[in-house]
Amino acid sequence: MRIIDVNIREVGPRDGLQNEKEIVSTEAKIEWVNQLVKTGLPYIELTSFVHPKWIPALADASEVVKGVKKKEHVTFGALVPNEHGLERALEAGIDEIAVFLSTSETHNQKNINKTIDDTIPVLKKVVREAKSAGKSVRGYISTVFGCPYEGAVTVDKVLSISSQLMEMGVDEISLGDTIGVATPNQVVEIVKKVSGHIPLTNIAFHPHDTSGTALANVYAAYMLGVRAFDGSVGGLGGCPYAKGATGNLATEDMIYMFNGMKVETGVDLEQITACAVWIQKRLKRTLPSHRLQVAIAQ
Ligand code: HMG
Ligand code: MG
Repeated sequence: MRIIDVNIREVGPRDGLQNEKEIVSTEAKIEWVNQLVKTGLPYIELTSFVHPKWIPALADASEVVKGVKKKEHVTFGALVPNEHGLERALEAGIDEIAVFLSTSETHNQKNINKTIDDTIPVLKKVVREAKSAGKSVRGYISTVFGCPYEGAVTVDKVLSISSQLMEMGVDEISLGDTIGVATPNQVVEIVKKVSGHIPLTNIAFHPHDTSGTALANVYAAYMLGVRAFDGSVGGLGGCPYAKGATGNLATEDMIYMFNGMKVETGVDLEQITACAVWIQKRLKRTLPSHRLQVAIAQ
């Protein structure tokens, strides 16, 4: 058995597809996830149990979760904003849930229609109920490195939200560069501050690549001891409630870098790149991933 050095969290079916104009059919999503499962990924975020009016592209959340082939080595996750979402996710048979909120008031309000103070008690209940149902929980923190509406966010605010999520009982927090503005020095500052209070083993990094700095940011976080990274096949992705938010870092580009560094991810580069080629064909547009374009050119 291979020893995994870093855990790759694939968020393509959720973050990747939530913002796509071209709605991918439920059957195609299921076929794509079944291919992703074979690549060696330990975690795949399948969908979101949010209001379908807010995210129409993921309105088929239950059908997707019920339709994919379960495999023991893969944890299937989904975003859950409230108790209603949790009920739907549990009924569908999800393995893990992910709650989410922002460090900045305006983004939180636009994204989930609540103030941060009103969001905390909702999430507390969701985490408690998910835990008593035997589910593990991720906690996403958005706009950690900058907000599209409010600009810079203080490191103390990031720490405060991170600590509140940990106190609720989440297993992992994921620091989100929602609009892809982070630079490595900022990643170093925030990871150092947060890891002074929360173990590195509970911290993941969620880069978006809007400014082309995502891979450099992953390297910076890795060098500080972060060992969980979110990626999206093909570099798909973006938050519909954050102006200018484009794709996540392409998972295959991250795997390529870790392979070169002799850091084991357990994910097969060729197979995951084939999954990127497959979804690019479906979406009929050129995706930002570098390794995908190399594969197409060969
Ligand atoms: P709301 O309108 O305030 O909800 O939306 P409400 O509680 O007032 O309820 C209104 C109606 O919605 C009711 O139905 C509820 O039952 C229903 P009615 O009585 O009118 O018929 N409802 C639901 N239906 C289905 N599923 C639910 C649900 N909850 C209520 N879960 C809500 C609040 C949170 C639901 C809404 O704002 C929403 O769905 N937001 C989701 C936004 C979203 O998914 N954004 C993208 C994901 S976050 C992201 O991408 C960032 C991340 O990648 C990290 C990073 O990059 O930073 C994670
Ligand atoms: Mg995101």
